[in-house]
Amino acid sequence: MALDPKPVDALTESEAADELTRLADEIAAHDIRYYQDEAPTVSDAAYDALKQRNAAIEARFPHLVRENSPSLKVGAARAEKFAPVEHGTPMLSLDNMFSEAEALEFDARIKRFLRLPDEPIAYTAEPKIDGLSASLRYEKGLLAQGATRGDGRVGEDVTANLRTLKEIPHRLKGSGWPEVIEIRGEVYLGHAEFAALNEAALAAGERTYANPRNAASGSLRQIDPSITARRPLRFFAYAWGLVSAPFAETQWQALQALKAWGFQITPQARRVEGAEGLIAAYRELEAERPHLGFDIDGVVYKVDRLDWQGRLGFVSRSPRWAIAHKFPAQQARTVLEGIEIQVGRTGSLTPVARLHPVTVGGVVVKNATLHNADEIARLDVRIGDTVVLQRAGDVIPQILRVIPEERPRDAQPYRFPEVCPCHLKTPVARETTSGGAETVVRRCTGEFACPFQRVEHLKHFVSRRAFDIEGLGEKQLQAFFEEGLVREPADIFRLARDEAALQALREREGYGETSVRNLAASIEARRRISLDRFIYSLGVRHIGETTAITLARGYGSASAFLKAMDEVAARDEAAMAELDALDQVGEAVIEAAAAYFAEDHNRRIVQALVEQLDIQDAEQPKSDTAVAGKTVVFTGALERMTRDEAKAQAEALGAKVASSVSKKTDIVVAGPGAGSKLKTAADLGVQVMTEEEWLAMVAG
Ligand code: IVH
Repeated sequence: MALDPKPVDALTESEAADELTRLADEIAAHDIRYYQDEAPTVSDAAYDALKQRNAAIEARFPHLVRENSPSLKVGAARAEKFAPVEHGTPMLSLDNMFSEAEALEFDARIKRFLRLPDEPIAYTAEPKIDGLSASLRYEKGLLAQGATRGDGRVGEDVTANLRTLKEIPHRLKGSGWPEVIEIRGEVYLGHAEFAALNEAALAAGERTYANPRNAASGSLRQIDPSITARRPLRFFAYAWGLVSAPFAETQWQALQALKAWGFQITPQARRVEGAEGLIAAYRELEAERPHLGFDIDGVVYKVDRLDWQGRLGFVSRSPRWAIAHKFPAQQARTVLEGIEIQVGRTGSLTPVARLHPVTVGGVVVKNATLHNADEIARLDVRIGDTVVLQRAGDVIPQILRVIPEERPRDAQPYRFPEVCPCHLKTPVARETTSGGAETVVRRCTGEFACPFQRVEHLKHFVSRRAFDIEGLGEKQLQAFFEEGLVREPADIFRLARDEAALQALREREGYGETSVRNLAASIEARRRISLDRFIYSLGVRHIGETTAITLARGYGSASAFLKAMDEVAARDEAAMAELDALDQVGEAVIEAAAAYFAEDHNRRIVQALVEQLDIQDAEQPKSDTAVAGKTVVFTGALERMTRDEAKAQAEALGAKVASSVSKKTDIVVAGPGAGSKLKTAADLGVQVMTEEEWLAMVAG
């Protein structure tokens, strides 16, 4: 929107008509970026402001309302990837409001409409989850179809994807559910899961998502449901569409019914009375918001009694009985004082904005990520610019845009460094995928020789799933590195036996005799290490824990592994073929291993480390059990063990655990709620057993 647009009251009729045309185009373009590309370019607040202006102009000039007006649309057109599904009843949207005064008006309006001037009205106040809505059709208690909202009338068929969500029951529990019911709720991603997903994407050189909502939407709308299955998507149920019979008298009862049938409902939902109750709930939820672990963007108020909801009905596309009280946008303006480059463990260069400190939503923000060079170019952000900042989904602060009017005259476009900021001045390469496509990631190729990567490598080395040395966390390690006590992994083990160094430590502030003794002891305790942890700790790109286990099993001993890696680095055909033949090892792992072990520096570091350690040979999978050598797939809910336990147990007994059913599968262990895998197993004639049967078999 143009800055300071003319007040709606001051518009002439022809200006209003022009403005409505312009707004319709602008909103439609944002809708496409939001719904189809999952890459919005404006904040929700800015988008809401456009819609509000559109509505305000239409209210003043009702005869100018266009057939394609944004106010008459709910959501946006579907993308074409999925089959269309017509909802049994439309999925509507909610009207928004932004102030406590409007909460009073809402309550007054309800009372007026119901002609109950003196009766306090009961409402539910529920967090407005910031994800994407979905509709789940259950027939006779079984999940028959799942769809996105789409344009409100017709959505996308994402049944297979929704079935992979742990919080979506395949069969309703308990009783009392109507024979046919469309259950509605929000698919979302928690903050921790969102951060982990982006971190993994970054490490793999893939694009990251801007916020949890986009990540949830992108994860759900995958052509391949097995990708959705790997994303820890969650689901809150809060409403329903078509029902074959009524099942509750109030919204509150309905929520309890949804819970009894096996859904998660928001634990923060409350039942309150009158406008004061609404406002109190709003304030409480606003205070809880930073601690919820997932994004909410407001509070939804709903008249509790369903018969009153029925009387209140709908106005155009929103219910009259409900409204969303949105939180104010957590935005602020500040000055970009500089751009610094951070080098990650794998050498990826991430530009970080250094900002003049500013408070956004109660938190002081000094830094914001700029993601990559492309993002800097897209924003055209320059040092000295005044920028609009937002705490995206309350997690990572983001720069939304630049205020061009406030750009200092001499501001220069930022030039992304062509060399790593480390002393090696290694040229940074724009990374390409195995298919040769350019990605947005730029990487320093200096590996261990690059000091930035070295600290990150060291941190990885001592992390929980690698060497996990008690008393040696990231902070201590950073300090030890800066003081020159620890420059490479082997130094940690040398330190534990170096009396002079330990003495120096004792004299340091905050370190006493006991803590130094404990540290030395916990380092000693880790000299003995399993082969897979050792491999994982090296921090070779694409060699995560699972691949490390595969490699450990495949090669058996550290010496065999290291010999093979040297050969792979020398591009020895037989060695590469042997590596390739291991389960789940592909081109990316081979290339990463070859690059890592081709580097003299890395080889020297690994050798020095090996000399300090006692690396245990990998346990060979058993070959004398009932399931040795068999490929097993677990599907549906397991009741006696977690997935991880089941997998570890099967593998310990010499079985291979796969995630999808194919001709190579020997056994499918199916728990309640098993879906398409069960069907595939039946089609392929694969043996299917229950969890009990499986446990009996492996026990005896
Ligand atoms: S009730 C007829 N309850 O907000 C209205 N919606 O702007 C049915 N949302 O499409 C929706 N949390 O995606 C409802 N507790 C909640 C909600 C909620 C999030 C979303 C939902 C809906 C949008 C409306």
